[in-house]
Amino acid sequence: MASESNSRNGVQVDNTLQSICYNRGSLKLLDQRKLPLETIYLVIQDATDGWNAIRDMVVRGAPAIAIAAALSLAVEVSNLKDFSGTSDYAASFISIKLEYLVSSRPTAVNLADAATKLREVVLKAAAASTESEAVFQAYIEAAELMLKDDVASNKAIGSYGASFIQQHLENSKRFSVLTHCNTGSLATAGYGTALGVIRALHAKGVLERAYCTETRPFNQGSRLTAFELVHENIPATLIADSAAAALMKDGRVSAVIVGADRVASNGDTANKIGTYSLALCANYHKIPFYVAAPLTSIDLSLSSGEEIIIEERSPKELLNSRGGLGEQIAASGICVWNPAFDVTPANLIAGIITEKGVITRTAADAFDIQDFIEKTATLSLA
Ligand code: MRU
Repeated sequence: MASESNSRNGVQVDNTLQSICYNRGSLKLLDQRKLPLETIYLVIQDATDGWNAIRDMVVRGAPAIAIAAALSLAVEVSNLKDFSGTSDYAASFISIKLEYLVSSRPTAVNLADAATKLREVVLKAAAASTESEAVFQAYIEAAELMLKDDVASNKAIGSYGASFIQQHLENSKRFSVLTHCNTGSLATAGYGTALGVIRALHAKGVLERAYCTETRPFNQGSRLTAFELVHENIPATLIADSAAAALMKDGRVSAVIVGADRVASNGDTANKIGTYSLALCANYHKIPFYVAAPLTSIDLSLSSGEEIIIEERSPKELLNSRGGLGEQIAASGICVWNPAFDVTPANLIAGIITEKGVITRTAADAFDIQDFIEKTATLSLA
């Protein structure tokens, strides 16, 4: 991965920050480890560069990981010079690379979901033509569509979420929300999921203030969400993760909105470590707790959150400053447990905001996500 220092090229789209800069045959990823102090883009030439960028947190956030992985392989196949082989061979070349990309980070399902869909596309193309070029072309177009679709999906999440929350907090004209980790433009192709809802509330003029947690140990909140909120001129306050309970007790939060890395079919949700604590605190203080995520974050193959594999990251993220990138700050020799995500049980979640609407509890006080997906299958985005 080569770097391009202080590039301003493509930093903004529609006045939002852009982490993925793509043109056919070329991909640059904003190095999120360097934000907010430096704006550096890394040039991604192939699936290996994509895998490393995801593993090393150059790009992070469930939707952005999926799109960056898909596009890293699109760039590789666009620039293939001397591929000789049949369409079946091209399809298996792509399938192997997709499997490799999925191994970069295990918890977010969006990447595995994208790989399954892209594999179907290339198998179909291989069945329809003997030319490898037809398979590569079909792959590139499908990967590019994912980039485009994600922004539309996030805008729909923002719109449904803002209207729903406004209706449910009808007693308050203006209100404040708390969010965790980074779910904004940097974590997606643009606009964001939970942060997209916050942006939509702000655009409607009903947002008093957004509170964002630091999100230790990698500080996605203080480095990335705070950066996005300032960039968008949204009234915002940063808090330490450990200040959330006190903030709720003070009555300063009307709702909590977070993103998701994987939602099981019963609604149990894996998201950034610390999400579960926030849900417990919100429940105690009778504050509604919402998850905002595209349908690609739902994994109907899992009956509950107990089946979700939680990624454990390097002890260095806790032992050293700047999420492991800076100097040592913890005592030498101490053992570390560093799960990157936790699972919030469905019974602590008031609603799951998707691009097709908000999934709420049934009369039996449970989420019926399968039913929601079936009923909204033909619905186009708002
Ligand atoms: O480890 P990260 O930074 O990839 O974790 C990101 C999160 O947990 C986000 O909340 C989630 O991926 C949703 S992003 C729209």
